[in-house]
Amino acid sequence: MISLGLIGFGRVGRTLLRVLLQRERAHGLVCLTELNPAGRDAAELTANLAYLLAHDSTYGPLPAAVSAVGDRLLVDGREIRCFYSADPAQVDWAAAGVRVVVEASGDPAAAQAAASLLQRGVAKVVFTRSAPVSHATLVRGINLDQYDPARHHLVSCSTCTANALAPVLSLLQRAFGVSRAGVTTVHPALSGDTLLDRPAAEFALGRSGLGVRAAASGIADTVGKLLPELDGRISAMSLRVPTASVNAIVADILLERPPASTAAVVDQLEQAAAGDLAGVMRLEPGFLGRARVAEDFKSDPHSAVVDLCWLELAGPLLRLVIWHDNEWAYCQRVADVIDTVSASLG
Ligand SMILES: NC(=O)c1ccc[n+]([C@@H]2O[C@H](COP(=O)([O-])OP(=O)(O)OC[C@H]3O[C@@H](n4cnc5c(N)ncnc54)[C@H](OP(=O)(O)O)[C@@H]3O)[C@@H](O)[C@H]2O)c1
Repeated sequence: MISLGLIGFGRVGRTLLRVLLQRERAHGLVCLTELNPAGRDAAELTANLAYLLAHDSTYGPLPAAVSAVGDRLLVDGREIRCFYSADPAQVDWAAAGVRVVVEASGDPAAAQAAASLLQRGVAKVVFTRSAPVSHATLVRGINLDQYDPARHHLVSCSTCTANALAPVLSLLQRAFGVSRAGVTTVHPALSGDTLLDRPAAEFALGRSGLGVRAAASGIADTVGKLLPELDGRISAMSLRVPTASVNAIVADILLERPPASTAAVVDQLEQAAAGDLAGVMRLEPGFLGRARVAEDFKSDPHSAVVDLCWLELAGPLLRLVIWHDNEWAYCQRVADVIDTVSASLG
């Protein structure tokens, strides 16, 4: 078992630990770093992290025994040492036995510092975002099988939305050609959202998180880098909504070689879901022919759930609704990447 370290124990960090527990791989996680801007007592802060891990407002109680002793989290009796430092380079990860560090802080400075850990005994760094410093961006269903252990030491898992959209667009491109795609993501709240207005770099995102806010989306660029043949053909925006998890992607896709009927589209999707994209994409038939809602896709491990209730073909224009749990499904893909890089370390 390769030992892991984690930078940032927020939504992604804690959800990832839940996923690792489900895969019976959590004992690999030996230490983590978090911020302590208010200078709280380390034991008190560690107890607070234990509380958040054990009781999650989105995913419910953790089915494991969680407690805290001093600066150590105890999960089913295994210890996770907590370091309180904004600078990951200040932590001696190698002395803690860590070979793979997962950077899940969202802090650009922490990402730069994480990259420097390769000079300090860490073998691989996995970023839970599009990282400017990575050697490779690996997305299951696109290119995870192209991981090269000799060259890829800084590895990005891309974004949750790219993990959902890219595999579906890629298969449509192969089957029918994609001329253009207009994408709207209906994205749940993120940790930076607040209930009341405050200043923010993107002004609209500083408005109350209780409302629906239109914002820019990086998905066109991110998917364009993963699928260069579609670069420049996607335009996108985001609607940030006051829900806890599950993103809905509404994609209007102009096909170059449109099929005669929706059945041909469904056939391609079914073949992929049972083949290359098994475990990555599934099709949602609805319940008694009726559409289900975001809440029904919480904790679904698939990167993308294509809703057949909303699939519509009008001439060359295909409309798809793709659901995905932006935290749970994404952390499944991060765990896949961790498994891949860890396997290469023997
Ligand atoms: N949430 C999602 O749906 C999602 C999906 C895919 C990818 N991601 C990406 O994953 C990353 C984390 O997102 P998140 O939603 O988990 O954010 P989050 O809930 O804010 O968690 C980040 C955690 O890292 C801590 N942190 C910040 N700077 C740090 C540093 N220098 N060293 C150690 N810890 C630090 C934060 O502490 P404070 O709270 O005190 O600042 C927070 O606890 C981001 O890059 C995000 O884009 C998020």
